[in-house]
Amino acid sequence: MDLKWPLVKGTLLLRAGEDGEEKKALQAAAEILQAGGRVAFPTETVYGLGTNALDPEAVRGIFRAKRRPADNPLIVHLAALEQAGELAQNIPPAAVRLAKHFWPGPLTLILPKRGAVPGIVTAGLPSVAVRVPAHSLALKLLRTAGLPLAAPSANLSGHPSPTTAEHVLEDLAGSIEAVLDGGPCPIGVESTVLSFMFSPPALLRPGGVTLEMLEEVLGAKIQSPDLGNFKTDYTATPPAPGMKYRHYAPRAPLFLVEGAGPAQGRRLLALCTSLTARGLKIGLVVFAESQGIFPAPVLKVLSSRRDPATAAARLYGVLREMDAAGVDAIVVEGFEAAGLGGAVMNRLRKAAVQVIGAE
Ligand code: TXA
Ligand code: MG
Repeated sequence: MDLKWPLVKGTLLLRAGEDGEEKKALQAAAEILQAGGRVAFPTETVYGLGTNALDPEAVRGIFRAKRRPADNPLIVHLAALEQAGELAQNIPPAAVRLAKHFWPGPLTLILPKRGAVPGIVTAGLPSVAVRVPAHSLALKLLRTAGLPLAAPSANLSGHPSPTTAEHVLEDLAGSIEAVLDGGPCPIGVESTVLSFMFSPPALLRPGGVTLEMLEEVLGAKIQSPDLGNFKTDYTATPPAPGMKYRHYAPRAPLFLVEGAGPAQGRRLLALCTSLTARGLKIGLVVFAESQGIFPAPVLKVLSSRRDPATAAARLYGVLREMDAAGVDAIVVEGFEAAGLGGAVMNRLRKAAVQVIGAE
């Protein structure tokens, strides 16, 4: 192993930014993966914690490092659509159509699994989640290692997903072999998850690829249990095991204030005033348009209300900064936005201990 890479509590920091570094970093990462180790790597959405998806012992190491419940399955990352047939079977033509249109990209497809996929990857489910990420380093790593990589987001279970190598190290230094540093992730929230185990196919997690985009390419309706219109007999068991856990949450309790206009502003002000009166140090996350609304001791501007892409890219980093600032409570201004904005609001609702002003 190349000893010139810095070690953080025993985890190799493989920098891929400078000329000539990238190839060596990829080679070192691939060797670790081929030996059954764990390497965090950047994707276009968030950093993933990868390992050989076909090696059950290696995959066990992922659950251990993340302290992830064993009933929450992993996404398998592939270098190309052609590899999907090695992991999934009876792939519906509609799924192939979507993959051809959106891959590489932030869309995960749930398909019937093949026997070759170890049960630990899919938490015993008969299905497997697959995607081809749209990040040049991720694709190069997949090709150099020559393996399908099982990779959940590279955070401790329940924490906000990491969008930089520093975030990965905050959570996992000392518990994984290496992190491949490719700078910040451009999108910032996790992929859209669409399951073909239901008919019509079901949107299990909103992301950058929206329901409308999927329906347009499919030329057919899909259902979205998250939005309460799930048309099967599903009751107690969530279709994506991940849906039942509190997610994406910072350490400090997060209060989300929804709505719009003056009513939302009044609710935000009332909440900040009452938390402050209880002696709590609050961290306030607002859009640029509401910067002056309350003199919070810690104030972060997410983006303009009209710029959901920047809001998505900054969201998890800002939540981590709030924890680093040692606030007692985080108050977040919600917004009504389609596309990536909808994915941002989905993550905030799941992170919140209380949603105020929701219809
Ligand atoms: O953007 C992303 O998807 C990132 C990057 C690294 O690719 N990955 C990610 O993985 O967010 P993770 O493990 O944090 O989220 C995977 C989600 C979970 O909610 C899990 O329950 C669901 O996908 N999932 C995985 N396999 C499934 C399956 N066979 N059936 C239903 N849901 C599944
Ligand atoms: Mg995750």
